[in-house]
Amino acid sequence: MIVLGNKLSGDPYSKQDIELLVNLSSQASISLQNAKLYSQVDDLSYHLQEKVDEQMKELKEAYEELRQLDNAKSEFISMASHQLRTPLTAIKGYVSMVLEGTYGELPRRMHKPLKNVLISNDRLVKIVNDLLNISKIELGKMELEKELTQVEELVKSCYEEMKIAAEKKNLKISLKTSKDFLPKIEVDQLKLRQVISNLIDNAIRYTSQGSVEIEVRKTDSHIHILVKDTGEGLNEKEKKEIFGGFIRGTAGVNFFVEGAGLGLYVAKKFLSLHNGKIWAESEGKGKGSTFYVELPITNS
Ligand SMILES: Nc1ncnc2c1ncn2[C@@H]1O[C@H](COP(=O)(O)OP(=O)(O)OP(=O)(O)O)[C@@H](O)[C@H]1O
Ligand SMILES: [Mg+2]
Repeated sequence: MIVLGNKLSGDPYSKQDIELLVNLSSQASISLQNAKLYSQVDDLSYHLQEKVDEQMKELKEAYEELRQLDNAKSEFISMASHQLRTPLTAIKGYVSMVLEGTYGELPRRMHKPLKNVLISNDRLVKIVNDLLNISKIELGKMELEKELTQVEELVKSCYEEMKIAAEKKNLKISLKTSKDFLPKIEVDQLKLRQVISNLIDNAIRYTSQGSVEIEVRKTDSHIHILVKDTGEGLNEKEKKEIFGGFIRGTAGVNFFVEGAGLGLYVAKKFLSLHNGKIWAESEGKGKGSTFYVELPITNS
């Protein structure tokens, strides 16, 4: 409320005075309204901030709970895999000894079934080892044992090892080495060997005829290992998904080849620990695929 007294001069209020006063009072009322609004906004933002803080706290608690559950899952997988490894090693040992005749001569008809037991046992050992590796990586407990390595030599040794499997399937297999001199780089040899062997194994498994070509190349900053086949190939969706773990594409299903869909997932994790990369390219189904491994020459 605004109260007006008489003018000091004693003159009555003129029309102009009144217009001025009306203007003044409407400005004052706007300012008052603004002040009120401002205080409401202030209140609102204070409450909003309180709500956001509260929700952030709840989110953090939920995240922490999930993280603990995730760790418990990885710990469980790790423990279960360790427990499985011992009896699997024992089965392999005993069956091998039976096959070698340690417990007396074995009837010929028993050879094949027992060899099949060994093959299944090896598959189980591979799955258990993959699971152990995954749980270690997820728990942040995977440590690399890096050594200065001539990668080309390592690829060559994997190639020599897997050659027989390709030849058994009547696939042509070749290794093309780099024209340039390859510097040695720091890698965990066992893990890189596992990555390359897995890629060659896939190329052989998912190709029914044609060839598997392995190549080592060098750029200024990276070493590339390529594994190219003329097999089943990959569609766009598979190219992205097959590195996701427990995922098998149509090749896995069509070829009636058993597999857990873990090989590429483990490979991707191993390579990222080396600051490296892995990816796949394919012209499409039935047109073969090329898998690329990229390792930095420095800083690996
Ligand atoms: N060279 C390839 N050609 C076509 N498809 C492939 C090739 N390599 C991988 N794939 C597809 O990617 C999927 C995932 O491969 P990955 O090696 O991770 O698992 P897997 O071979 O199924 O089983 P394992 O865990 O025994 O390796 C395969 O099931 C297959 O469908
Ligand atoms: Mg595989």
